Amino acid sequence: MTEKSMRLQGKIALVTGGARGIGLAIMRALVAEGAVPVIADVNQAGAAAAVAALGHADGQVLRVDVADHASVAAMVDAIVARHGQLDILVNNAGIGGNTPFLEIGPEEWQRTIAINLSGAFFVAQACARAMAQRGEGGKIINIASLSGQRGGHGRAAYGAAKAGLELLTKVMAVELAEYGINVNNIAPGAIETEMAKFAHDQATRAAYNYLIPMTRYGTPEEIADAAVFLCSDEARYVHGHTLNVDGGFRAAGLMFRGSKAIPPGQG
Ligand SMILES: NC(=O)c1ccc[n+]([C@@H]2O[C@H](COP(=O)([O-])OP(=O)(O)OC[C@H]3O[C@@H](n4cnc5c(N)ncnc54)[C@H](O)[C@@H]3O)[C@@H](O)[C@H]2O)c1
Repeated sequence: MTEKSMRLQGKIALVTGGARGIGLAIMRALVAEGAVPVIADVNQAGAAAAVAALGHADGQVLRVDVADHASVAAMVDAIVARHGQLDILVNNAGIGGNTPFLEIGPEEWQRTIAINLSGAFFVAQACARAMAQRGEGGKIINIASLSGQRGGHGRAAYGAAKAGLELLTKVMAVELAEYGINVNNIAPGAIETEMAKFAHDQATRAAYNYLIPMTRYGTPEEIADAAVFLCSDEARYVHGHTLNVDGGFRAAGLMFRGSKAIPPGQG
């Protein structure tokens, strides 16, 4: 590999929810840049298989439920005990949800907020504390969502949690700059993962493909490429930012696909 392709040599990188999907693709990409993988997931068997497939001698597998504060504290303790440091956190673990506003019940609401917002906070705080204590800075990337920026159908709990995470990223950026901890947010659009396969029926897929200027779902690898950039030194002055990786979905307004251009003065 060239020197440029090993931008994260020796960095200890934790990806929560890294057993599959976007998290696993990010973990693979970080390892390709030289990082030491730590995958923590509620699915311990999946995390173990993922780390084994990465084939890294120092790779670490941890079971965590991010919604459980004690479980998160134990995860960070185990990382510091094993590696003596934590350089990168990709705060990715999350669950989906598509229940309409009038139908969503208190259990689903609370579970979604518990994992996608409170859980992300527990993880970010515990990791940032470890980074601040060591005094050598770090990189934190929160994985929010386009659904936290736009009012999508069925996205009451999920969207509210992700909007909260995006704001939390800004607060973290403000408060953690003095510790050299670089914090950013990635907002994926529609990405082809198990979560999307489960949550998106044919009508949803057609609607997404119409509304996305690039007319397709993204891949987990396209999110991973953005994550590598934000974890690298090249992004050292990018701070408190949300990087949408969404095929132009957030940028789009009116789209007249297939219709004739409206002559000037007649629109
Ligand atoms: N797929 C998309 O289109 C899309 C779009 C926008 C944002 N996102 C976000 O990207 C992240 C990853 O999504 P994905 O599509 O890869 O999902 P996925 O369901 O394929 O993977 C999520 C992973 O998180 C783990 N997880 C779930 N609950 C957990 C908990 N309580 N504690 C620890 N681990 C837990 C799961 O076991 C799984 O390995 C999520 O935060 C999601 O909200 C996804």
